[in-house]
Amino acid sequence: MDNKRIATLTLDDGRSIELPILSGTLGPDVVDMRALSKLGVFTYDPAFFATASCTSAITFIDGDAGLLYYRGYPIEQLAEKSDFLEVCYLLLNGELPSAVQKEEFRSIITHHTMVHDQLARFFNGFRRDAHPMAVMVGVVGALSAFYHDSLDINNPQHREISAHRLLAKVPTLAAMAYKYNVGEPFIYPKNKFSYVENFMYMMFGTPAEDYVPNPILVRALERIFILHADHEQNASTSTVRLAGSSGANPFACVASGIAALWGPAHGGANEAALKMLEEIGDVSRVKEYVQGVKDKKYKLMGFGHRVYKNMDPRASVMRSTCYEVLKELKLENNKLFQLAMELEKTALSDPYFIERKLYPNVDFYSGIVLRAIGIPTNMFTVIFALARTIGWVSQWNEMIADADHKIGRPRQLYMGEVKRDFVALEKR
Ligand code: ACO
Repeated sequence: MDNKRIATLTLDDGRSIELPILSGTLGPDVVDMRALSKLGVFTYDPAFFATASCTSAITFIDGDAGLLYYRGYPIEQLAEKSDFLEVCYLLLNGELPSAVQKEEFRSIITHHTMVHDQLARFFNGFRRDAHPMAVMVGVVGALSAFYHDSLDINNPQHREISAHRLLAKVPTLAAMAYKYNVGEPFIYPKNKFSYVENFMYMMFGTPAEDYVPNPILVRALERIFILHADHEQNASTSTVRLAGSSGANPFACVASGIAALWGPAHGGANEAALKMLEEIGDVSRVKEYVQGVKDKKYKLMGFGHRVYKNMDPRASVMRSTCYEVLKELKLENNKLFQLAMELEKTALSDPYFIERKLYPNVDFYSGIVLRAIGIPTNMFTVIFALARTIGWVSQWNEMIADADHKIGRPRQLYMGEVKRDFVALEKR
């Protein structure tokens, strides 16, 4: 980093401080504010509009240009030419694997997919109609209780084993959450399948019949996993980092990420986008619905992004994947897809959306693809959590591996009562 440039901040009482300007390899410069507290003041940036919370070498986003790179590789190239496990290796280790490394990684992950049998009993504690995200927060957190042998976070080997376990076991738990919900028996992993095939087998297989994965649908889900694998310091990843900064174990940290992802402004958006399309119901109602958005009655789900002020590059890949899947399933005239395209067209030509730079994000089309694959709506955010697990654990690992990392501890602008004396109960 270039430390030679300086920003000078002067307070209204005349005191000033020189703050270094740092440059990354890509992206905007940042002003290093750490010395500011010497003046006895803090920065105030509640939703992190102008704050970089860490340095990272994992994912780069240029929101104005609509670019997304994992370890320098454009997302479009990875979605086209790579597979999910290879992307996981890349995110975790920094480089694409050689053929030998790739096979070794595949074998390790494949051989960690089973969960301790005792974990299966956790499911019985939940109501059958519990939201699968509620179940996931619980059972992924519960993994902490099973792996005391490798929870020394300062040991790189332990961190690696935990990362492998999370990557391997979260799909098994996700499929179990679904099976529990619909009242079907759990389907245990089968090592002959690829990572994505195996997940589909555990979701859709039954003990009664052989399961034959459809390669077009496998590829579509593989793309969804790749597109959701990481997205730098978003709300859930920042939650994982903050939880991890205290030294908490990675299973607990990932459970906190799942909780943060659940909200409709974040990972819950694909579920909300599909519900919205169903609510609109017909192409003839698009204009009326968009008017309601402009009147601020509700938001257009699957639109807008804190960082992208251009087309989300993941949305373009998702749109073409959507075409492929609907064609394969002979659903080209699918009503929701027609509706989504009309809604996108209407919004993109409307000044309200143009002025605010609101474009479709990845969730606008992913819901339609997931629905076509046969994944129920309440599992959409679980699929996102499954895919993002590698991003969370890679970011957590990067933070812990940095010897200078400290517990995350934001400050506040206190707006409460000034000091006052306690009032006895009879005098209140
Ligand atoms: N529909 C209608 N108007 C919107 C939308 C939307 N989806 N998103 C933003 N706006 C408007 C806001 O009302 C605001 O208008 P104003 O200037 O008149 O007040 C303006 O655009 C700026 O919006 P903010 O809310 O300040 O933008 P912010 O960066 O805080 O929010 C967010 C980003 C949360 C993603 C927002 O766009 C949103 O709620 N979108 C819908 C939910 C969604 O799709 N989330 C998925 C995010 S991607 C992901 O997690 C994978």
